[in-house]
Amino acid sequence: MLTHPTLDDTAVKSLVAEATTAPSMHNAQPWRFEYARASRTMLLSADLDRAMPLADPTTRGLHLGCGAALLNLRAAAAHAGHRTVTTLLPAPHTPTLLASVRLDVPHEPLDVSLSSLQPAIAIRHTSRRPFSDRRIADSLRSALVEAAAREGARLAFLTTPHREAVLDLILHAEGYDRMDDGREVEQRRWTHDGSAEAPPEGIPEYAFGPVKRSGAAPVRDFAGRRAIPGRDYADFEKQPQLASLSTTHDEPADWLRAGQALERVLLLATRQGLASSFATQALEWPDLRWLLRDPLSGSGHVQMILRLGYGPDGPRTPRRPVDEVLTITP
Ligand SMILES: Cc1cc2nc3c(=O)[nH]c(=O)nc-3n(C[C@H](O)[C@H](O)[C@H](O)COP(=O)(O)O)c2cc1C
Repeated sequence: MLTHPTLDDTAVKSLVAEATTAPSMHNAQPWRFEYARASRTMLLSADLDRAMPLADPTTRGLHLGCGAALLNLRAAAAHAGHRTVTTLLPAPHTPTLLASVRLDVPHEPLDVSLSSLQPAIAIRHTSRRPFSDRRIADSLRSALVEAAAREGARLAFLTTPHREAVLDLILHAEGYDRMDDGREVEQRRWTHDGSAEAPPEGIPEYAFGPVKRSGAAPVRDFAGRRAIPGRDYADFEKQPQLASLSTTHDEPADWLRAGQALERVLLLATRQGLASSFATQALEWPDLRWLLRDPLSGSGHVQMILRLGYGPDGPRTPRRPVDEVLTITP
């Protein structure tokens, strides 16, 4: 007889707590979970009230964050001994229903490689601090490329000329952003002082990192046009190690795959002692996004630019309580 791991309310909540530590654009946490006891199925939906109409009008970035949460959920479930089957966009007429995850499906193999990434879920944070010049070894680069491929996306470490071109595009994007009052307001709505009264969402000032004094690392300054009293200055790496994550097509299912690949790469990177941050400035302007493409493959749609390296961990940022994002039904 098949026996399943326990799935009482506490166990369900703990799976969702792990899912929600995922990265999301501006830490908006644009997700909702619904667990149906009878069918042992978790549904993941998009919360469009947490979209960014100006920086992310197509909701591509929102899908990436939800895909990352989905990967965490799968890894947490595998770690707890659940054999799962995931279906993306299971109801084509309800595009906000992003995925279903059936738990304890008999005869499904247990995903051992995903399960081994679970310990990294709690310690992965975005680090907007300088990284060292230590090069990421080729063997680790290959393992990260392989992790992305397992989720149907292509990770490519940028060659020096491509990196220079991408850094230029990011500077252009930052110039566009500076001229755009609407985006400044949108970004500010998702940042706060990090005090005890601050909401459990958005980016707290303590996670902004120092102001860049020198270096080429493309770290977004979430302070925008504001000066934050007492903020440090720092020299960042001159030759940041950047990787692009891309997919063959550019539809919602591809965005969800890219989000899962992103998180799989980040969890493996974390487990291997790497720090990480994101640089999506140029992805948020269609004319610049097109130019980010990998010159070697030429095709594909860039979904993320990642900065990886050895450096201080990022701080933990707030998350909404699980009860606010989870419904359990009989
Ligand atoms: C689609 C997407 C785009 C993001 N863009 C940026 C970015 O351009 N710059 C940045 O510093 N962080 C970026 N982030 C990271 C989020 O700000 C971060 O995940 C969130 O604040 C939660 O913090 P944590 O990753 O430390 O848990 C992005 C995350 C996602 C999923």
